[in-house]
Amino acid sequence: MLKAFFIIAVFIFKGSYCLCRPRQKRRLLFADIYLLLVLMPKPYKLSGFSGKIIAIDGPAGSGKSTTARILAARLGYIYLDTGAMYRSITLFALRNNISIEDGHALGAIARKLNIDFKMDGDLNRVFLNGEDITTAIRLPEVTVAVSQISAHLEVREAMVKQQRKIAKGGNVVAEGRDTTSVVFPKADLKVYLDASLKERARRRLIDFARLNINSSLVEQGKDLARRDSLDSKRPHSPLTRTSDSVIIDTTNLTIEEQIEKIIKLAKSHFT
Ligand code: DC
Repeated sequence: MLKAFFIIAVFIFKGSYCLCRPRQKRRLLFADIYLLLVLMPKPYKLSGFSGKIIAIDGPAGSGKSTTARILAARLGYIYLDTGAMYRSITLFALRNNISIEDGHALGAIARKLNIDFKMDGDLNRVFLNGEDITTAIRLPEVTVAVSQISAHLEVREAMVKQQRKIAKGGNVVAEGRDTTSVVFPKADLKVYLDASLKERARRRLIDFARLNINSSLVEQGKDLARRDSLDSKRPHSPLTRTSDSVIIDTTNLTIEEQIEKIIKLAKSHFT
């Protein structure tokens, strides 16, 4: 912090000096700009955060997505939204009338689909074969079908392969219910976020309102309870808390408090 302050102070002083002097002195100014860019502290590089994988698990509505997205942006990491990948296959299957029970056909699709992420401000945009499907994958019909589609072993195997490929070099915040147990069992930090059903339903309602989708608290509560049950009882990669995950109850926490807690944990794990 002190180093950054010192560099900026020198830069401002030299800048104002050079601007009213001959051309060769301006070269000094450009050298300073270069130095400034190279030496400015990047948080994860400064404190041993380079190349790490942080895996965030937990039930729907526990705050995983928002926390992972902001955390990734703050650390300069990739945000790997695994739920969005399962939603993308679901959308494709619904649009192409592929039975949500046909694990073999769905697995073949999962191996071929091209899913990309691109940050747009604070929104993690999702592209399926080049089409922006950020809003479409949050539609209620996708939400209803995704648990069943993501339960097929062939679908999961294809997705896990893609997820590990994306995270090959580290610097990743991976979020989703199997990231701590199956996808990244050796993640550098594992966090399990939880919250009461009522609070999770309230958060989901706000998310839906943002996407102009009508719903109610009761509807959301029922849907979450149904998905919790499906996700925890399925035979492949059920929602589970690994013994080496740190549990954070987010019911009474703000997003900022959740992120602060995880950064503190990361600092103690990585340094
Ligand atoms: O986090 P989400 O609501 O976008 O996830 C959508 C669904 O995808 C959820 O019902 C379970 C499934 N999912 C999964 O099976 N494994 C993951 N790693 C992430 C999500």
